[in-house]
Amino acid sequence: MRSLSRPACPQAQRQARLGAIGRRSVAVVRAQAAAAPSKDSGVESISGVSAETVAAIAKARTNCLTATDLPLPNRRQGKVRDTYDLGEQVVIVTTDRQSAFDRLLASVPFKGQVLNQTAAWWFEQTAHIVPSALLSTPDPNVALMRKCKVFPVEFVCRGYMTGSTDTSLWTHYKAGEREYCGNAFPDGMRKNDRLAKNVITPTTKAEDHDVPISPAEIVAQGLMTQQEWDTVSAAALQIFEFGQREAAKRGLLLVDTKYEFGKDSDGTIRIIDEVHTPDSSRYWLASSYEQRHAAGQEPENIDKEFLRLWFRSRCDPYKDAVLPEAPAELVCELSKRYVYLYEKITGQAFQVPDLSVPINERIKANLKKAGL
Ligand SMILES: Nc1ncnc2c1ncn2[C@@H]1O[C@H](COP(=O)(O)OP(=O)(O)OP(=O)(O)O)[C@@H](O)[C@H]1O
Ligand SMILES: [Mg+2]
Repeated sequence: MRSLSRPACPQAQRQARLGAIGRRSVAVVRAQAAAAPSKDSGVESISGVSAETVAAIAKARTNCLTATDLPLPNRRQGKVRDTYDLGEQVVIVTTDRQSAFDRLLASVPFKGQVLNQTAAWWFEQTAHIVPSALLSTPDPNVALMRKCKVFPVEFVCRGYMTGSTDTSLWTHYKAGEREYCGNAFPDGMRKNDRLAKNVITPTTKAEDHDVPISPAEIVAQGLMTQQEWDTVSAAALQIFEFGQREAAKRGLLLVDTKYEFGKDSDGTIRIIDEVHTPDSSRYWLASSYEQRHAAGQEPENIDKEFLRLWFRSRCDPYKDAVLPEAPAELVCELSKRYVYLYEKITGQAFQVPDLSVPINERIKANLKKAGL
């Protein structure tokens, strides 16, 4: 994801990076049937989420988790998660924040719950490959994890030649590069082709912007030992392959994703943060991929691009002091897409929480029950 024409400002740089892997513009797969364009926005509305959940989404707009104020020590606010450092353990609260352009665009009902529960599901499914740091989920939005010393590397795994931003694999390939982050690619590839084999295109995990890096550089710079790299990269590829197989069973293609790993106090390497969530992964619809690809069309997916486009067409989200409020219709649509993907992946019905209780209060009560 090295920038060819590196964006000028750090915000733009970060945005390009985020867009590249789809962390903030991830594809959420579209329901195969009955996706009707909405009247006002032209954004397709997915079907497949129950009427009760759709009604709850509308209701929950006034009870989103945008900020947390838990009576726990050492709070640190990430883009999506608030973490509380308890020493040996960390309490990680996944909020409903939807950010892009380094800004909070909106709070999306149930997004935090979906991300937390999707990640917890995948952590369990992939435990036979590598243990996760997850200890429990004391609340739908909360993960209690072993505190790990995080490797300062993001393990980006890719199965396809795709992406459209300055930092994406396809952009580099199209510009003539045949080597990227230590991986070689043959001539003659087309956008969205399946790669001959999955690859890892690591980046450093920096505050402002992540920089593509090769395994040799990772070791040379002392970010990881050779042995750590060998172990973690092998695990990352195994988890990715497992995810692709599981996704395929559900009619989805797991296109690319990123993982974080760390070491716990015993020195055990664990996967942390999140796995195969709609924020960290790109999914395409399997059923139409071959046909569309052969016809030179983009694969079917549902992404969050529409919300970014809405802001872009109305303001300068990098510069304006105050952003307009995102339309309820778009925010609810985004929420539906998160819920849809959760249900599709896990095979479980989304459990609508009790909307009469403010989420922060519910979390406090649940943490107390868990003795935290
Ligand atoms: N088990 C863990 N031990 C220590 N730190 C953790 C653990 N799990 C997650 N973290 C850290 O918690 C933070 C969660 O923040 P969040 O996911 O909101 O933003 P981010 O990771 O900075 O950005 P992004 O996810 O977009 O890369 C990250 O810094 C992550 O590395
Ligand atoms: Mg994260």
